[in-house]
Formats: sequence, structure tokens, C-alpha cells
Amino acid sequence: MMRALRKLELTLAILKPDVVAQPHILKEIRSVILQQEFLFVRSKKLILSPTRAKEFYKEHDGKFFLNRLVSFMSSGPIWTHILARENAIPEWRRIMGPTKVLKTIHEAPETIRGRFGLTDTRNCTHGSDSTETAAREIKFFFPEFSIGKWHDTEETHFFSRQVSLDEDLCQHVSLQDVSDAIS
Ligand code: RTP
Ligand code: MG
Repeated sequence: MMRALRKLELTLAILKPDVVAQPHILKEIRSVILQQEFLFVRSKKLILSPTRAKEFYKEHDGKFFLNRLVSFMSSGPIWTHILARENAIPEWRRIMGPTKVLKTIHEAPETIRGRFGLTDTRNCTHGSDSTETAAREIKFFFPEFSIGKWHDTEETHFFSRQVSLDEDLCQHVSLQDVSDAIS
């Protein structure tokens, strides 16, 4: 069977504990996400255990910053979001800005990390860096979610913007589903 052309890309975004601890910053970053025409496909708030955080960052095994990264990431609640957009992966990383906050504050002050980052560790957000990473990271946080099935069944509603934001869930839902629910 030929697969329909995929127009939207999915990426995994994390709003890290520094952001979630500051409700007004959390709100501002979400409004940037919406202004930049991302759609929220799925969202979860959770606390990572140190073991899970280490597993998530296993590509950084052996790096000098791993321990402080793991303790930071398990220090409080995080929000994870599956975001959809054209070129979601590079676009989300572009609006996040470079990793190193202490440089980014000067070199890209308009980005999320430039505006709200605290240190090179406490740098607000995470974004998948490739299609393969996005698939792995989406599965890590949303094992019940099928990327293929989403493209086959939901993408068309998202692409035509036939969705509305459920603010409590922080998720866009298909208008079709909304009207089914009230009829
Ligand atoms: P991310 O994975 O969080 O989206 O960011 P990234 O690709 O820009 O950064 P990466 O190199 O993958 O590093 C992952 C996270 O580790 C922390 N880090 N601290 N010098 C340091 O102290 C340092 N370097 C990296 C950051 O929290 C970074 O986002
Ligand atoms: Mg990375």
C-alpha cells in the first residue's frame, strides 16, 4: 500500500523543571509554541526518576555534565509534548535556540533559551534532533502512541487546522471528535 504523503512532522518537546516551576514562563513558552504554528498532539506532565532520566539521556553516557543533567531533569515535574508542524524537528530547535544558555543569552536573545534559560544545564527545553530520535523519544514518553497511525488518521485534521485546543489537556483535538462528543 502506498503511504499518503506526510506533510506534518512530529517532534518531542520537553519543558524542563526550571520552566514548569515558573507558571508564567510555562505559559509564555506555550504561547510561543502556538504563535509559531505548532499544534499539540499529545501532552503529559510527569516526574522522571533518575533511572528514567539516565535512560533518556543514554547518548550522553560518560559526559562530564551527565550527572547534573540527570539530577536536574528528575528534580521536579516536566511537561512532555508531541508537537506537529511542517518541519517540526528543525523549527522547534530553531525557536529553542542553542544549547549553551550563557552564550545564547548574547547571541540569540530572542530564542526561548535566550529569554528564559538559567544555565547551560537549566536551559528550559528539549527538542528531538532527527526523525529517528523523535521516534525513539516519542515512544519513550508515549508508548501507547503510534506515529504511523497518527499520520494515517489524525494528520489530515491537523494539516487543515480542523482542530481546537483543549487547554486543560494542552492538546489539540479534531473538531470532528468534538462534534461527535456533543451530538
Ligand atoms: P536537548 O537534547 O536538551 O534538546 O538539547 P541539545 O541537543 O541542544 O543538547 P545536548 O548536547 O543533547 O545536551 C543535552 C542537555 O544536556 C545539558 N547540557 N549541559 N555544558 C553543560 O553543562 C551541558 N551541556 C549540555 C543541557 O540541558 C542540554 O540540553
Ligand atoms: Mg540533544
